[in-house]
Amino acid sequence: MSAKARKKSPTATKVKKEKEVSKVKPEVKPEVKLIPVYVMGKRYEVPEGLTLMKAMEYAGYKFIRGCGCRGGTCGACGTVYRKPGNYKLQVALACQKTVEPDMHMAQIPFFPANRAQYEFAELTSAPEEVFKLYPELFRCVACNACAKACPQGIEVMDAISALKQGNIAEAALLSFECIQCGLCTSRCFGELAQYHMFQLARRIYGARILPRAEHLAEMIKAINEEKYDDILDELKHVKKDELQKLYQEREEEPVTAGEDWKPKDKKYL
Ligand code: SF4
Ligand code: SF4
Ligand code: FES
Repeated sequence: MSAKARKKSPTATKVKKEKEVSKVKPEVKPEVKLIPVYVMGKRYEVPEGLTLMKAMEYAGYKFIRGCGCRGGTCGACGTVYRKPGNYKLQVALACQKTVEPDMHMAQIPFFPANRAQYEFAELTSAPEEVFKLYPELFRCVACNACAKACPQGIEVMDAISALKQGNIAEAALLSFECIQCGLCTSRCFGELAQYHMFQLARRIYGARILPRAEHLAEMIKAINEEKYDDILDELKHVKKDELQKLYQEREEEPVTAGEDWKPKDKKYL
């Protein structure tokens, strides 16, 4: 066999490849420690460090409901758990809390808390509106279990006290970061649906208590007076490339701009 032919021989190529492969170091997989957990009473072994949500998925459960953002902001994944040797039931967001050995857990797919029905346009900012819709507000026994359960660190009991005192604004501000997970309600001795009450408070605060934004009113007036109709019509007929160029070259508000920032070109103001 000629040297050229030997070079092309499939056997020679195979041997070369095998030699190359043998030089590659075998992949070292980190050792995963499995720990036992109980999902709805059934024992599973799951990798340490998983969130409750991932552990349940690892065990084979599929979240059709009760899972949204996976980042602790949508409030969909309320879960009740208990640690071994402890009678106490605890609650957490499944996407945030991590598993511990022998933990028992079950997800709360939906919490059927009382949610008052109302026609918002007919509501005023009088505290009695809240009292009428949620009379159970006065069943609060000031136990603070709600605040202890809140994954957002909201002073739930204080916000409820504010509502009882008729201070809707205070309740709205205290509960501003509520993600409507319902975990406070799941622990409440007085059976209050705090998060629905807070939502009502924030609605009333936004629509009836906060001062109106003057610049917004001015802008709405300008729109109603058709100030922007011609400009918008013009844009509708611009070719795609030109539109992209206009967009890319637009003047942007700097991140550090103050409240009084205005663009250099004021023709659209
Ligand atoms: S106040 Fe209640 S519903 Fe809102 S985030 Fe806290 S526990 Fe969840
Ligand atoms: S858990 Fe219920 S009863 Fe206890 S402080 Fe909170 S709202 Fe009041
Ligand atoms: S999935 Fe959204 S808070 Fe957990």
